[in-house]
Formats: sequence, C-alpha cells, structure tokens
Amino acid sequence: MISKRLETVASFVSQGAVLLDVGSDHAYLPIELVEKGHIELAIAGEVVVGPYQSAVKNVENHGLSDKIQVRLANGLAAFDESDQVSVITIAGMGGRLIASILEEGFDKLAHVERLILQPNNREDDLRNWLQDHGFQIIAESILEEAGKFYEILVVEAGQMKLSARDTRFGPFLSKEVSPVFVQKWQKEAEKLQFALGQIPEKNQEERRVLTDKIKAIKEVLHASK
Ligand SMILES: C[S@@+](CC[C@H](N)C(=O)[O-])C[C@H]1O[C@@H](n2cnc3c(N)ncnc32)[C@H](O)[C@@H]1O
Repeated sequence: MISKRLETVASFVSQGAVLLDVGSDHAYLPIELVEKGHIELAIAGEVVVGPYQSAVKNVENHGLSDKIQVRLANGLAAFDESDQVSVITIAGMGGRLIASILEEGFDKLAHVERLILQPNNREDDLRNWLQDHGFQIIAESILEEAGKFYEILVVEAGQMKLSARDTRFGPFLSKEVSPVFVQKWQKEAEKLQFALGQIPEKNQEERRVLTDKIKAIKEVLHASK
C-alpha cells in the first residue's frame, strides 16, 4: 500500500511507460507500478546514500531487481538516452528544487513524453519555470493527506500562457475549484489574515502585500459560487 499522494502521482503514469522516479527514497512508486503490471521497466534515482540503499533493498525484497534499476545519481543524471525513459516523476520535494533538477538536465528532456511533478511548496515558481521552458500543464490534481495539501502537475512539451492567477492557483485547479482546493485556500487565507493582524498599521507596504494575497484567494473562491 502506498500513500494516497503517491497513488495519485502513479495514476498519471502512462501504461507501459519506461519510468524514471527522481528522489525515489524507498522506491515505493516504481515498485507499486511494476507490481500492478502497469509498467515493466523503471529507474529509481536517488542522490543520498541512505535512501538509495533502502531503495536497493526494497526492490530486492520484492524480487524486482530485473525490472527496477536503482541508481545513485543527482537528478536527471540517473539516465541517458539509451534508457529510453518516457515518463519522469519527481515527488515530495520543493517546487524550486524540482525546477532546478529539470533545469540542470534540461537537454535530456527532449525525448521524454511526460513529467509528473508533485511539489511540496512553491508550486507558483515551478509553473513559471515550466511556462518559460516550453512545457505545458495538461492536467492537475489536488489532495489532502494527514492534514497536508498536495498539488500534482502533469506536464508535456508545449506552450502555455498562464495568468498570475493560474500561476498561483493552478490553471486546472482554479477552474475546477474542488472541495479540497477550497479547504486549502481557506486555510491559507486564515493564516494570512492572522499574519496581517500581527503587522503594525504603520507597515503599510507589508500589509498591502498580504491584503492583496487574501483578496486574490477570496476572488478565486467566490468565482466558483
Ligand atoms: C521527501 S523524499 C520524497 C520521496 C518520494 N519521492 C516521495 O514522494 O515519497 C525526497 C527524496 O529526494 C531525494 N533527492 C533530493 N534531491 C535529489 C536530487 N537532486 N536527485 C535525486 N534525489 C534527490 C532525497 O534524498 C529524498 O530521498
């Protein structure tokens, strides 16, 4: 059993894909997909020795060493063209780190069909990076697990033009306005409102930034009613 978060990431991996999971930790995601028969080949990339060793052990314990190669590598250095990777997942890291991993290995992305990205924060920076580097978001998902909210971006080559609102709230998520989306942004608005209450009246610029953020959230949530 993998987490609802990883299960949702997995649901966007195309049937029969050759998968690279960057930052695989225990290799839960590739193991799940191979065991279900959804894919046949995967690479689990991990840059830190401890998690790399857990991934190797886990893959061995599941008897999948012939189907899942675990590689100790930084980001996209885990594969080259001969691996014919078609889908890359990067989950459970900050949005800026995900963008920097993609940027560092940018040239290798030309033959990859799909990226499935699950940033833990700074989704806005990641969306901006994708827009500036010839990628388009083709689907998004949001979920809540153990009190945390997670956004998942499904990305392919192409152009997109995001408004400021799309960048912050997600082009698909802000149209769908699911109950989880509403919960996430209501909670965020409450936090910002609390922070605003702590800022003295004389710090007008600081107050204005927060007030604008709260206003943008209210607009997105009200637009759905
Ligand atoms: C919080 S864990 C997430 C594990 C798994 N992807 C998940 O979503 O449950 C992040 C993992 O990414 C690894 N990591 C961070 N930066 C990396 C990089 N540049 N290349 C490969 N792995 C990286 C960390 O060592 C860690 O094991």
